[in-house]
This record gives sequence, C-alpha cells and structure tokens, in this order.
Amino acid sequence: MNETVVTSIGQSDAGDRIRRHADILSAQLQNMRASMYPPEAKKKLRTFLTHEVSKLSSIPESTLKLLSKEGRGPVPDRQENNHRVYTLAQINELRAMMAEQRPSEVLRYLPHRRPGEHLQILAIANFKGGSAKTTTALHLTHYLALQGYRVLAVDLDPQASLSAMFGAQPEIDIGPNETINAALRYDEHRRPIREVIRKTYFDGVDLIPGNLEVMEYEHDTPRMLATRQSGAGGVFFERLRNVLLEVEGEYDIVVLDTPLPSVISRSARSMQPPA
Ligand SMILES: Nc1ncnc2c1ncn2[C@@H]1O[C@H](COP(=O)(O)OP(=O)(O)OP(=O)(O)O)[C@@H](O)[C@H]1O
Ligand SMILES: [Mg+2]
Repeated sequence: MNETVVTSIGQSDAGDRIRRHADILSAQLQNMRASMYPPEAKKKLRTFLTHEVSKLSSIPESTLKLLSKEGRGPVPDRQENNHRVYTLAQINELRAMMAEQRPSEVLRYLPHRRPGEHLQILAIANFKGGSAKTTTALHLTHYLALQGYRVLAVDLDPQASLSAMFGAQPEIDIGPNETINAALRYDEHRRPIREVIRKTYFDGVDLIPGNLEVMEYEHDTPRMLATRQSGAGGVFFERLRNVLLEVEGEYDIVVLDTPLPSVISRSARSMQPPA
C-alpha cells in the first residue's frame, strides 16, 4: 500500500485493510494448494519406474526384478499396465539393503560420507535479487537427494520461498519460533536445532524453514555485537556453523538458501566481534 493511501485513510484503517488483504491472499494460496495437491493439499513426489530406479541407484534392472519376484526388499506398487513403481523412500531402502549385502561396493549404492569426511555446507548466494538462488538451492537439493545423499535444506530468507517450494506455506504451516532464527537467537527462547528441523515430502531432504522471523537475526546480531553480549555460540555465520554441527552426523550435505545481503547485515559484518 502506498504512502498516500496510508495517510488519507489513517494508519489503523490501513493496518486493518492490509491484514484483511493478507488473510484473503493467504486463504487463496491455501485454496490453490488444495486444488493442486488433492486430497491432502500436500506436495507428493512421483514414483519411479524400474529403469529409472536402476539409473538412480546403480542396481541392475534384472536384480530389481529378481528382488521383487522373490519378495525381498520393499514391495513396489504396480501401475495399471503392471509396471513396477517405487517411491524415493523405497529406492533408499534398496540402496541401504544393497550396501549391507555388498560392503565392498557400499559407495556405489549408498553415497553417504565415510568416517573422517566433512559435512559439506553449500551456500547459494548472489548479490543480485531474482537471480535463481532459491531455484538453484531447490533443484540442487532435489538432485542430491535423488543421488542418495542425506540433505538438510536451510531457508535463511525471510521471504521463505524455499520453504514454500517444499510445501510449507509461511503464514500457515510455520508457527512462531519454528524457523532457523529459533536455533540462532540470542535470548532465552533459543531452541535446539533438532527441534526446528522438519521432514519434507522428498525422502532424504529435511528442512529448516524460514519466515519473517529470520529478519530478527539480522537486527539482533549487530545489537549483540555493539553491546558485546553475543555470549557463547558466536555471531553470524559462525553461530550458524556451530548449530549445524549439532546435527552434522545425520547429513552429508547442507544447502543454504540465502537472502540478498541487507544493508544492516553488510554494515554489521564489517564490525569487529568483541575481543
Ligand atoms: N532457469 C530458469 N529459467 C526461467 N526462469 C527461471 C529460471 N530459474 C529461475 N527462474 C525464475 O526466476 C524467478 C526468480 O528465481 P528465484 O526465486 O530462484 O530467484 P532468487 O535469486 O532466489 O530471488 P530472491 O532474490 O527474491 O531470493 C522465479 O520466478 C523463478 O521461477
Ligand atoms: Mg530466493
């Protein structure tokens, strides 16, 4: 709403109107989701035919058919034409089964990192808005999960586009203190990172959602730096790294979807942390 309207109808009227419009928009988004993803209004990943499973998992088609005939491993659904179809969760079950049966070829089937290998943290960043950061983060996450990696996607953007793409509508599905800000904040409401990680419809991908609350971290951090109150856990990216370390054994790769760096965070980053 532009300034002229706000001053001519008064601030409280404008606030009411903005809230009303936000509710209408939110309800419309919810209706769209209900009609796009019936019956539960939830996103669902498609299933995979035997040749696709074979390509993704390196398990030969003949082995997949044999396993299915002998009733070993996950039981695939059948399409109307009797072709077998597997969910991604079933593909991951097959990967784990094959890795257990053939320890010498474990990496061929299950590309989880080996002891001593570091958790990989990839930040998708660009100083330009609308330059496909979130789209890249999403497709990269999908790709890695399809390859069999355990991926944690973290939405660091208050716009929450990545969360929405994973089916979490910010104002409906993400409640107070349920974003990455909850794990990073400096006050007594800080939560363990595990509590804000949620499963997604995409097997192998967990998500820490974002929403407008993420902005609070950008405002609180310079304040903490200025007043030298940041305490244990560090500030900015060090703090993020430290909370990610709490769950590092459970993932192979973390993908961070970042917002445009704001003026506040850029100026704060140039400040020296307290000695
Ligand atoms: N390869 C592509 N071809 C066409 N359109 C694309 C492509 N990649 C992304 N887009 C579109 O460009 C728009 C911006 O993409 P996206 O939201 O990923 O950018 P962003 O850098 O995350 O934006 P923001 O700075 O707002 O976070 C979206 O509408 C997206 O669907
Ligand atoms: Mg984005």
